Amino acid sequence: SLNRTPLIAGNWKLNLDHLQSIAFLQKLHWSLKDASHDFDAVEVAVFPPFTDLRSLQTLVTADKYEIAYGAQDLSQHDSGAYTGEISGAFIAKLDASYVLIGHSERRTLHAETDEVVAGKVAAALRHGLVPVLCVGETAADLEEHGPSAVPVAQLRAALEGVAEGAEIVVAYEPVWAIGSGQAATPEQAQQVAAALRAELAQLLGEDAAASTRVLYGGSVKSGNIAGFMREPDVDGALVGGASLDLDEFASIVRYQK
Ligand code: G3P
Repeated sequence: SLNRTPLIAGNWKLNLDHLQSIAFLQKLHWSLKDASHDFDAVEVAVFPPFTDLRSLQTLVTADKYEIAYGAQDLSQHDSGAYTGEISGAFIAKLDASYVLIGHSERRTLHAETDEVVAGKVAAALRHGLVPVLCVGETAADLEEHGPSAVPVAQLRAALEGVAEGAEIVVAYEPVWAIGSGQAATPEQAQQVAAALRAELAQLLGEDAAASTRVLYGGSVKSGNIAGFMREPDVDGALVGGASLDLDEFASIVRYQK
């Protein structure tokens, strides 16, 4: 992964309320500190529910934690009659660094189209948030189109209109590997990550493509993380279920040990 700083990110999905999130982050921080984790060498981030963000801001700021956080979604709109939506400006104001966009659960359960996803990427960038753009194929897509076609098409659609050199993170999450216990192989993840990076060179330019982190997500555990991290184009992981288990997540972060 060249000069790219690896990123291990936990997507908590609809788990951990604001009090639980404070307790979890305190324990994670101290667990990593006790293990002398080098936060500059491997970046750590969590994606809690919206209602936790303010609490995590207070904690992270007051105690100078080197753990980044972000939202799991945002509105493509900045304000107005959009009941239930949260704007990029609101998220940025809570000192969040990142925002997940286009997770397969949003695409499937909330019918987010490529167009909506592109609108959200633009909104994130407008507010200085780094989009963590999720792409991935279903088992049926894989059978019909092969491994890279659908993720690459999703990437192209999402970055429509994004300026060259923009900072984003891409998370390759095969839908069939999410929460299934059946992770992709490191070779499969590498193949798609390389295809995504080649497409990024077309879309954002060679330099941005070389510095963009491409994560793998889907049934990542402490037992399989090292294999993914050995691949040249895989720069980290987006972890779901295992990010809710403190020891397991800390072990994933410390995959080199
Ligand atoms: O965003 C991460 C997620 O979709 C992967 O979930 O539970 O398979 O690690 P999980």
